[in-house]
Order: sequence, then C-alpha cells, then structure tokens
Amino acid sequence: MKHVNTSVNIAGVTFSNPVIAASGTYGFGREYGNYVDLNKLGGISVKGLTLLPREGNMPPRIAETPSGMLNSVGLENPGVERFISDEIPFLSQYDLKTIVNVAGNSIEDYVNMTLKLNETSVDMLEINLSCPNVKHGCVSFGVSEQGVYEVTKAVKEVSKKPVIIKLTPNVTSIASIAYKAQDAGADGVSLINTITGMKINVKTRRPVLYNNTGGLSGPAIRPIAVRMVHEVYQAIDIPIIGMGGITCLSDALEFIIAGASAVMIGTYNFMNPYLCEQIVIDLIDYMKHNNIDNIKEMVGSLRLNG
Ligand SMILES: Cc1cc2nc3c(=O)[nH]c(=O)nc-3n(C[C@H](O)[C@H](O)[C@H](O)COP(=O)(O)O)c2cc1C
Repeated sequence: MKHVNTSVNIAGVTFSNPVIAASGTYGFGREYGNYVDLNKLGGISVKGLTLLPREGNMPPRIAETPSGMLNSVGLENPGVERFISDEIPFLSQYDLKTIVNVAGNSIEDYVNMTLKLNETSVDMLEINLSCPNVKHGCVSFGVSEQGVYEVTKAVKEVSKKPVIIKLTPNVTSIASIAYKAQDAGADGVSLINTITGMKINVKTRRPVLYNNTGGLSGPAIRPIAVRMVHEVYQAIDIPIIGMGGITCLSDALEFIIAGASAVMIGTYNFMNPYLCEQIVIDLIDYMKHNNIDNIKEMVGSLRLNG
C-alpha cells in the first residue's frame, strides 16, 4: 500500500505525526512508556513545570462531571532542575519531540526557566499562560492582551528554542489574545486549556474541590475548543496546536480541519492509555483509504456553510 506523509513542521520542529500528549495528562511519559511505544507519538508536552518544586493544591482535586472532569491539581511538579537532571535523559531515549510546559508567577520566572532550558536538548517550549488552578501568575497573564504580549516578548528575547503560547479559553476573545501572542513573536499557539467550573455537594453545600473551582476538560468542552481553533485560525498566521476533549481520530480531525497543524490528547488518556498511539494508527489508515498523501492537505480545509 502507498506511503502517506503524516509529518508536520511546527516552528522548525518536525513531528513524525500530529499526535502529541497534552501537558498534565501524561506526566513525563514514564508510566505510559510501560504500555505504549512512545516512539509512535509525534510528541509529548510534559507536566507544567515551575522554577521550584510545587506540591500542588489540597485534595480533593479531581471530580468527575458529565462527559468530562474538573481538576485543581495546581501544578504539582518536581521543579525545572529535577526535570532537567532526571526526566530529560529518560525522554531522550525516544524518537518523539519533547515540549516543555513552562509555568511561572512572574515574567522573571518565565525568563529564568527559559534560560535553564536553553542549555538542554528539549525541542520546544509551551508557555503556560492558562493554568486556572494557581493563585498567582499563569492565567492572570493569559487573560489580558498586555499580559500575553509582555510574557511572550520577554521569553522570545532570551529563548533559543521555538516558543508556543498556551491560551486560556476563559476570555472574551481568544482570537485577539492569540493575535497578541503572534505580535510579540510567538512561533505558535496551543489551545485550549481547561474552562473554569464548579461542582457542589448538595448535602454539605460545599464545593466538591478543596480549591472550590477547577478546570473542566474532556469531551464536554470539545465543541467550544473546535470553535476557538476556528476563530484563532482566521486571526493569525503562525501554527496552531488544538486540543480539548479528543477521544478518537474523528475528534482529532475536527481540530485539523478547523485549522490546527497538530493536536494534543489530554483527559481521554486516563480512559484509554493507548489512545495516542491508536489515533496515529487510525490516521495512517484513514489517509490511505481516502487518498490523502499529506496531512497538511487537511489543515484548515473547513468548508463553511452559506
Ligand atoms: C489533570 C490535568 C492536569 C493538567 N495539567 C496541565 C498543566 O500542567 N499545564 C497545562 O498547560 N495544561 C494542563 N492541563 C490541561 C490539558 O493539557 C488540556 O489543555 C485540557 O485538559 C484540554 O484537553 P483535554 O480535554 O483533552 O484534556 C491539565 C489537564 C488535566 C485534566
């Protein structure tokens, strides 16, 4: 059977296919590596890292919701130094691209982490301006055009790696925010992070999550995420990585048709740890059966009605 080209180039980095594990749902790949051939994935975006280790929020910090989940993990992570010493050597064994999800309380945090990561073999930085579960920094930059502009510019000034900006959906116009990221020099954007939500225990009349609110993810948010990728694709020229509730190839294709050059798979990894690899297999099959030689033909191929 004929060969199909699934590779995508995002900001000079060539991924063997457009399927990437989403930050916070795949750890540093170790646990999944026991079950899945990590070489088959296009890439992994590692758990959000901060300058210093963080324990995250108090439990309960996960709650199930219809077609999704709420989480308020609060960026529990070993810190960037431990990532560099312990996790990069592990990930380097595999033929997949490593994206580092960088979170900070201040512009200096983002800059300092970028400087440390400059000297490593990681492929790309994903600047997390969208974590809703920490009190300072992060999403407080991501909800304002100026905040996004300032962090992006500062990181781009020092980064030796391509920089993509991870956007929050908790804004009035995600397209305007994406435009500001591009304006400040971003090499790409990824979207969406979780949508802020709340679940209440009616017996105790208390929120189920200790943090009161959390980020909603999973299939429940997919139509919103697809709509946002569509809007952002019309507003910018840099590549988009789309995510939000992908459970199968067809879901992934929605994002690609809306304008995403690649997709990230998050919450559904918890339902099916083989999902990323399965979507790659299904994509190759789909392309062969539909005479699509190159995945790029599908990016932004949406035919609007009317
Ligand atoms: C438990 C959990 C932890 C997450 N941690 C991070 C994180 O550290 N950094 C980040 O940018 N996004 C994080 N996310 C957001 C996901 O990467 C993704 O943007 C979001 O969940 C939407 O995709 P999905 O519906 O496929 O999960 C997390 C999501 C979940 C469910």
